[in-house]
Amino acid sequence: MAGDENSRTAGSPVPDGAWVAAAYRRTMSSGRALLAEMVGGQVEVESSGAWITTSDGHRYLNAGGYGVFITGARHPGVVREVERQLHRHPVGSRVFLDPVAARAAALLASVTPPALDRVHFCGSGAEAVETAIKLARLNGRRHLVAMTGGYHGKTLGALSITERETLRAPFRPLLPDVTHVPYGDVPALSAALARRPGEACVIVEPVQGEAGVVIPPPGYLGAVRRTCSHHGALLVVDEIQTGLGRLGTWWGVDPEGVCPDILLTGKSLGGAVIPVSAAVATHEVYAPLDRDPFLHTSTFSAAPITMAAVCGSITTIRDEGLVARAAHLGALVTAGLTGIARERLAHHAHEVRGAGLLIGVEFTDPALAADLFIALVGNDVVTNLCLGSDSVVRLSPPATMSEQDVDFLLERFDKASRQVAAHHPSYQEGSHAKR
Ligand SMILES: Cc1ncc(COP(=O)(O)O)c(C=O)c1O
Repeated sequence: MAGDENSRTAGSPVPDGAWVAAAYRRTMSSGRALLAEMVGGQVEVESSGAWITTSDGHRYLNAGGYGVFITGARHPGVVREVERQLHRHPVGSRVFLDPVAARAAALLASVTPPALDRVHFCGSGAEAVETAIKLARLNGRRHLVAMTGGYHGKTLGALSITERETLRAPFRPLLPDVTHVPYGDVPALSAALARRPGEACVIVEPVQGEAGVVIPPPGYLGAVRRTCSHHGALLVVDEIQTGLGRLGTWWGVDPEGVCPDILLTGKSLGGAVIPVSAAVATHEVYAPLDRDPFLHTSTFSAAPITMAAVCGSITTIRDEGLVARAAHLGALVTAGLTGIARERLAHHAHEVRGAGLLIGVEFTDPALAADLFIALVGNDVVTNLCLGSDSVVRLSPPATMSEQDVDFLLERFDKASRQVAAHHPSYQEGSHAKR
């Protein structure tokens, strides 16, 4: 689907953008309304595959979506499952057993590393993190070791291991007994664990998405696994952003054959139709929740409608070969963006880096990242800025993109890059260049 269909109008009734913004200001968040105004104040009303339609009928390629859209929007394989469940039995009694939950858990366990066979479903990524923290405590690991730059969500437990101080400061006191060690630094991790043998739980991302697509050195995850085992620490790998094909493998742990004690997934798990996340654990670690099903529950956990989305998402990713396609498209897009950045932003962009379809364009100056983000929207492409880094524009487009979508993305990135370079001619002097 090419983006030259921007003349097409969305279905009616067409919401009035000014009314929507005013309602946001009145009832939700004036800050949120202000941010939307900075990129044109558009109101989105429809989505399909890699494309979003706004109320004026304009179409945008969604190369952002915070890592949610590996299957694209409204993938028929997901919608079919959810629609069927919606008309049959969307929310369960929680007294009887539910076949859709049983199928979803079995499907998820079938694609995670073999030893991870116990599944707890939650709603948000942060809730999956909370589950991991509680499982760690239930297993006698009360000291949490997380990574600098790490992002794990904003509930109080998750925030305690998320590293960005501006997000943490207003909410202190957070959980006690948390240490942060530099991401990628195995000796530092080992030293931290040596101080708390048998008492620690380590939480790590295979690639740090919110930190600005930070890729650790080769062999890092394997070394983290060995270090945890050596010191009797539990290993939690947070794959909420990186999992389900995003990196061009089912999981970020796969290339190094690492099996964590707990793996966290979310975002793409609901097929971009229903929000859902999960903690998947070994049966040893999960044993306390296995024995007592009321110890850690939530009313809507594993609701049948949500479970249908999980079934639709996993079968779609599996049956349509989206993991391999993410690897293929990721290589294509990263090479394309690298070439364009080299040509158009030689003195502005520091680096283009990516793993599969999680790609970051890092700038020497945060203002340039913000400008590129805005220029891309102006050229009909949506990307994301990062919660943990101001200088990186992040792309996480769907693995269902067509070759034409990729051409469109690169063509518009080229245009936006030329605009950013023209807005910042002072950087042409090379005084800010790092390469
Ligand atoms: C690695 C990681 N963990 C946890 C979370 C939190 O997920 P949620 O925003 O669904 O609570 C995120 C969200 O961006 C994430 O990227």
